[in-house]
Amino acid sequence: MSIRTITTQAFPDQKPGTSGLRKKVTAFQRAHYLENFVQSIFDSIAAPKNSTLVLGGDGRYYNRQAIQTILKMAAANGYGSVLVGRDGILSTPAASCVIRKYKTFGGIILSASHNPGGPDGDFGIKYNSSNGGPATETVSEAIFARSKSITSYHILDAADVALDTPGEYRMGGMTVQVIDPVADYAELMESLFDFAAIRNLLAGGFRISFDAMHAVNGPYATEILGRRLGAPASSMINCLPLEDFGGGHPDPNLTYAHELVEIMYGDDAPDFGAASDGDGDRNMILGRKFFVTPSDSLALLAANATLIPAYKKGLAGVARSMPTSAAVDRVAKELNIPCYETPTGWKFFGNLMDAGRVTLCGEESFGTGSDHVREKDGLWAVLFWLNILAVRKQPVEAIAREHWARFGRNVYSRYDYEGLPTAAAQGVINHLQQNFATLTGSCFGKYTVQMCDDFSYTDPVDGSVSKNQGVRILFTDGSRIIFRLSGTGTEGATLRVYLEAYDAAVSRHHLDAQVVLADLIQVALLISELTGRTGRLQPTVIT
Ligand code: G1P
Ligand code: ZN
Repeated sequence: MSIRTITTQAFPDQKPGTSGLRKKVTAFQRAHYLENFVQSIFDSIAAPKNSTLVLGGDGRYYNRQAIQTILKMAAANGYGSVLVGRDGILSTPAASCVIRKYKTFGGIILSASHNPGGPDGDFGIKYNSSNGGPATETVSEAIFARSKSITSYHILDAADVALDTPGEYRMGGMTVQVIDPVADYAELMESLFDFAAIRNLLAGGFRISFDAMHAVNGPYATEILGRRLGAPASSMINCLPLEDFGGGHPDPNLTYAHELVEIMYGDDAPDFGAASDGDGDRNMILGRKFFVTPSDSLALLAANATLIPAYKKGLAGVARSMPTSAAVDRVAKELNIPCYETPTGWKFFGNLMDAGRVTLCGEESFGTGSDHVREKDGLWAVLFWLNILAVRKQPVEAIAREHWARFGRNVYSRYDYEGLPTAAAQGVINHLQQNFATLTGSCFGKYTVQMCDDFSYTDPVDGSVSKNQGVRILFTDGSRIIFRLSGTGTEGATLRVYLEAYDAAVSRHHLDAQVVLADLIQVALLISELTGRTGRLQPTVIT
């Protein structure tokens, strides 16, 4: 077995987005494309010789091939050992858990999260540091810089390793440790939550429905919800992982998780429904005929945290991404704990958690998590909810309504305009930016603009500054409209419009969010000139 050094040419487009590098599978299949990026990671992180890495992915199409390539490159680059999930599988939170538990130098996660998979779908790769969290902006920029100047990469001439059986294998001078992808994660979950109480809840006639969307969480849910907690097999749907997610879009929201939504809004609906995404880090929570917005879910978890064994002593603080509703801010205020507002993307939470400043974090994009790992965590959120329900013994809807009665309701919705020409989408943002001065002080019906800006964040731990993180239009009554371009898409541009209004009156809490937000949506369309500039009369997805 010899190490080969292959001459290559840099690709100009390997800039990591909100969560690593995501491209079409066909882009990754071009000669040297994956190898260039992996070598750029290795060159940038400069791990000491014989370091250990974690490697795994969400099992989507191209996962198996990419895993073998990365193993051979790790061996050629002087790594001592790689912990790889059986069959190359690790959910994103499980990968974070394994990096932390075995104190490895870092890990490489193969996933395009909730983007569709298959030969014509998406693929992705990202690097996570020794804290188990996504590489910081600084590291991501170093990887991108390296990818633009790379001229060669190293790879071991070796046969593929069989990854279907846990055990230790040699690859050149490196050890490949094939691990059970579920065991460490399941053990961590059992240490956080009251499994006995959840088991009793499920044994007592409380019915759930969990939708793994043919993605990575299937085996995790089967082990944890099924085997350890006793949920019947009939309560778990789409738990067989498929390379193309069964042709679906593995994003747990009201549009794409329609099978679950039909069950939860149908006759004889179960008491609790949940779904997770392609790589297992997102979650959607439903009660019987009731949708819990991700922003509300974060606030509810924070308000009920002391009911959970792992958080019974209280929370150090909470954090949310800027477009996430301010519902959790109200809880933090009452608990008298700090609440941080970060840019979009989980990588911004890592420093706050490492510094012990926050315990719970969340994003409006169906992401919630805590300092048990450094990624958002779909099944963790499901277990958190089940633990609350086991203690409170009330329906999901009653718990949410009680919460609104106490804190008021942050009515929330996000409109996504997908697949726009990049120039048109950027034109909307530029237009808004040019009008900050005229907009300030303007009245639109009951809404008066208090201020507008481009959100900028200074990390309180390392002082790094992230600019241009979304246009904010803030109104005097606390309502907000945010405009932001997605950093995870692989085709054209996606413009996201986030709408939020605050309503304290219980008498209006039964209203549909779209009804409450109707005027604000019109204001958003008016000030952005979105329809004229993009030609779109309707958003692609409303969440
Ligand atoms: C989206 C979400 C963001 C999340 C990211 C990764 O990024 O909006 O909250 O962290 O996916 O799951 P975006 O496409 O908006 O850049
Ligand atoms: Zn994901």
